[in-house]
Formats: sequence, C-alpha cells, structure tokens
Amino acid sequence: MTAPTGIPQRESWATRAGFILAAVGSAVGLGNMWRFSYIASEGGGAAFVLLYLVIVLIVGIPLMTAEFVVGRMSQESPARALKRLGGKAWAPLGWLFVFCGLGILSYYSVIAGWTMRYAVDAVRNAIPEDTAAYFAQVSSGGDAVIAHLIFMAITVYIVASGVKKGIERASLIMMPLLFLILIGLALWAATLPGGGAGYAYYLKPDLRRLLEPEILADAAGQAFFSLSLGMGALMTYASYLKSEENLGREAATVAFADTGVAFVAGLVVFPVIFSFGLTDQVSESTVGALFISLPKGFELLGRLGDYIDTAFFVMLFFAALTSAISLLEVVVAALVDVWNLPRRATAIGAGAGIALLGLPSAYDTDILGASDQLVGNFLLVVGGFFTALLVGYKLLTQADAELSKGLANQTLRRRWAMLIRYAVPVILLGVIASGLRPTWQALRTLFGV
Ligand code: PHE
Repeated sequence: MTAPTGIPQRESWATRAGFILAAVGSAVGLGNMWRFSYIASEGGGAAFVLLYLVIVLIVGIPLMTAEFVVGRMSQESPARALKRLGGKAWAPLGWLFVFCGLGILSYYSVIAGWTMRYAVDAVRNAIPEDTAAYFAQVSSGGDAVIAHLIFMAITVYIVASGVKKGIERASLIMMPLLFLILIGLALWAATLPGGGAGYAYYLKPDLRRLLEPEILADAAGQAFFSLSLGMGALMTYASYLKSEENLGREAATVAFADTGVAFVAGLVVFPVIFSFGLTDQVSESTVGALFISLPKGFELLGRLGDYIDTAFFVMLFFAALTSAISLLEVVVAALVDVWNLPRRATAIGAGAGIALLGLPSAYDTDILGASDQLVGNFLLVVGGFFTALLVGYKLLTQADAELSKGLANQTLRRRWAMLIRYAVPVILLGVIASGLRPTWQALRTLFGV
C-alpha cells in the first residue's frame, strides 16, 4: 500500500510481546477482578467455572481468532475494513463497534476513577476506617466526576502517544507488574486463617444451577466482556500486526491469560472476606464487596494492610487503564482511518466527548448499571454474532488464507471454520434471546420510561 504523501505510514507493534501484552491488557480489566468471581460464586462455583471454560473454548477463542484474522488482513480500523471487505451492508457493524467503545468507556472510566482514587489514597495511607462512608463519598457527586475526568485524561494521553510509544509501552510496563502483584496477593491470601471457607464459598460446585437458562447468558456475557470480544477492540489491535505469527495460538494465549487472572482474583477476594468475617456484604453487591469489604479487611491488618491495599488497588488501576486504552483506541482508530484525522487531536476530541457522555453514570449508578447491561452485556454479544456471520459466510476463504500464514495445520483451521459458522452463531442466538428482557429494562432506565 502506498500512503499518499504527507500522511504518515500507519503504525505497527514493535514486538510480538508488545502485541500480546496489549491484547492481554485489554482483556484483563475490571471485569476480571470482581465480576467474574461473584458471578461464579452465585452461579454454581466450580461448576460455573467449568461452563465458563467451555464457552471460552467453543466461542471465545474461535471468535478472538476471527477478530485477529480480520484485523491483520485489513491493516485498518474495522470501521473502514468491514465495509471494504464485506460490502456496504456490513458498514454498520464497524460503527456499532465504535458505539460500543464510546458506550463502555463512558461508564468504565467512572468505576476506574473510583479505583484510581482508592489507589492514590492507599499510597498516601489515607483510606479511612469507615470504608462504607468513604466509598459513598468517592463514588458520588463531585469526587466521582473529578476522578472520572482525570482517568479519561490519562487514557487520552496514552492513546495520543501512539501505538508503539503509548499503548505498547504502557502495556509492557503495567502488565508484568500486574501479574506479579496478583500472584503475591494470592500467595498471601492462602496464608490467612479461616480463608478456606472463602475458597469453599467461591468454588463449591452446584450442578443444578447449570440447568438454569440465565446461567448460560451470564457466562457468555461475562466471557465477551472479559475477553474484550464483540466490539473490534482486538481486531483493531491486530490491524497493527505485520508479522505472520499463528493467530490461533495468540488467541488461545490471550484467552487463557485472561481466564487465569479472573480465576486467581477470586482466590484473593474470597479468603480475605471470609477470614475477616465480612461475609454479610458478599451477596449484597459486587461493587460493595470490592470497594467496602476488602479495604475493611486490609484495614484490620494494621501496617501490613497498608501495603496490601496499595498493591491491590494499584493492580486494579493498571487493569482498568490497559482496558480503557483499548476502548478508546477503537474510536480513535476509526476516526483516524476513515477521515485521515491526526491521532493526537482525535484522541483528545474523542476523549472529551466520552468524558461528557460518562457524566450521567458518574452521578447516578442506576444509569451506570443500565449502560453496562445494554452495551457491555448485550451489544457485545450482538457484535460477536454478526462478526461470526461475516467471517464464517462472507470472508471465509480470505480469512482461512490469512490464518494459514501462521497456522499450517489444515484440520485445526477446518475445526475453527466449523465453530465460527455453526456453533458460535447458534449459541449466541440463544444468548441474545435470553438477554432481551434485561436489555429492555435497561433501555427503560436509560430513557426514563
Ligand atoms: N475486557 C475488559 C475487562 O474485563 C473490558 C473491555 C471490554 C475492554 C470490551 C475492551 C473491550 O474489564
């Protein structure tokens, strides 16, 4: 491709590790750190974890492979690529991705803002004893808005700095630290007296729960959100790939890293809560457990607790930030590739718009929850469904050729094609159907009817 003079060449990743860590950074986020373990404990413990693994294998990895393949094949933002590759009828899917990026980041940044505030106060040793009152203060009104705006500004700064100097560098620094902190915390949690009851609560298998239809929808919705699927985030990242590695293997690596982090996070959260006798808040609200019970537990440890809560909230902040940059990148890449806009100005403009869009969520957690249901849960699955149709029925020959560059094994590629054509759409149709009712509720909340 020859770029017209004056327009700089499109960027690409400097290293394979940079791409992988950026993709894992997108996947590992707030979704892993609290949502997974709670859905698991309520949805049948170890039995849920098994169901989740099956979904990751049958739906998650094939779809992630599809996103990677389309991204690398197109070398441009999905907002442009889907129209060019699939024809006019597929253009809206690219813009749905952009809408999801805007929509999710608008409220994600609000929760990330709380996390950032906790991390800063933990470093300063300023988290008060009454963590419930502290959380109420942090998560409402002016405090929440300011934290949201600062978090958006940091995200914009990284994305504006470019793929290599911004996203790749940030991921190379933050992700290894995140892994180290998480492993350290899990080992520490294993030493807590009385923590065993926490593991039992988290993982006690309850097979009957698996027969309930909502469990499948919960597991699939969680998998999409956690794996960053269905809105072109990983497609956009893969569009900066030049090398011809095995995209199936890369997808499996990212999916296992993400699932592993989610699983291990539960091994931290539950022993702490049980060891300190804070169980009454567990079933009430997931947010409450993370922002109220855990810091309370850390508080009871005195000096050691000060280090531990710093480590915990810094880890959460890194997780949120590396996910937020991928959400913003989908929007920025679309505007840059479609209209040839300069990256820096586009990142600032898009970030400002998203910051404004997030204000209602910063003020009202009902709006936050409804946006999460509509975009984070439902529209991602819709996006994934159409992506599977596009790749499985319209682009299969091209996609198979692209995948074959790094994956010579034809049997594996055939299996992948079968999953994308049949298993993924059928399962997702079921998930979409079971999500209609809660989504309708969410729409009513958002539009106040
Ligand atoms: N995967 C991220 C998390 O678990 C959220 C996310 C969703 C990021 C979709 C990008 C795209 O927090």
